[in-house]
Amino acid sequence: MACVITPATAEEVPQLIDFATEIFGEPARTIAEGEFPTAFTAARCPTSLLVARQYGEIVGLAGVMEDYIYIDTFCICWVGVKKSLRGQGIGSTLMQAAINHASTLIKRDKGSIVLVAEEKNLTYYARFGFSGNTPIHPYLDNPHPHFLITKPIWPHKQSA
Ligand SMILES: CC(C)(COP(=O)(O)OP(=O)(O)OC[C@H]1O[C@@H](n2cnc3c(N)ncnc32)[C@H](O)[C@@H]1OP(=O)(O)O)[C@@H](O)C(=O)NCCC(=O)NCCS
Repeated sequence: MACVITPATAEEVPQLIDFATEIFGEPARTIAEGEFPTAFTAARCPTSLLVARQYGEIVGLAGVMEDYIYIDTFCICWVGVKKSLRGQGIGSTLMQAAINHASTLIKRDKGSIVLVAEEKNLTYYARFGFSGNTPIHPYLDNPHPHFLITKPIWPHKQSA
């Protein structure tokens, strides 16, 4: 069954924190607790949370964060799909929705998406047009190599 992607509501935040913790592990909980509520409270550059659902159940998540300083620059983060449902296209649907969402937020004629990817996911993100290989310092909770990758985007008018 295809998933349905909608922007998160403030009421969903506790569920989304649990979901992110299930996908990314317990150390992610504190980060999600600090970040997810800002989607609804930040006066500037809130993180947009996109939720994938099947039969009403949360099965995937993606975040789109606007850079605070650099105009038309976005970060896609928190991309995760429920383990038992991976390999069915939910991640691709979420990635496309996140890219489209960033494209609707562009104020000028061109923008960029940056993303920090674990080395094992680089070929996955290449499918969506991301490239680059700038190494990022190791994370305390995830010592595997990570890289900064990027993709240019152009304005996308949201359909009515
Ligand atoms: C990465 C992730 C979001 C992919 O979600 P998904 O729903 O399984 O992805 P899709 O079903 O859309 O995959 C589309 C294709 O990419 C391939 N693919 C999936 N994960 C991949 C990976 N890590 N590396 C390379 N290819 C991958 C699939 O095999 C599929 O190939 P096909 O079209 O030839 O069948 C999911 O594996 C996940 O939640 N991982 C744990 C969290 C994580 O690592 N997030 C990324 C943070 S850097």
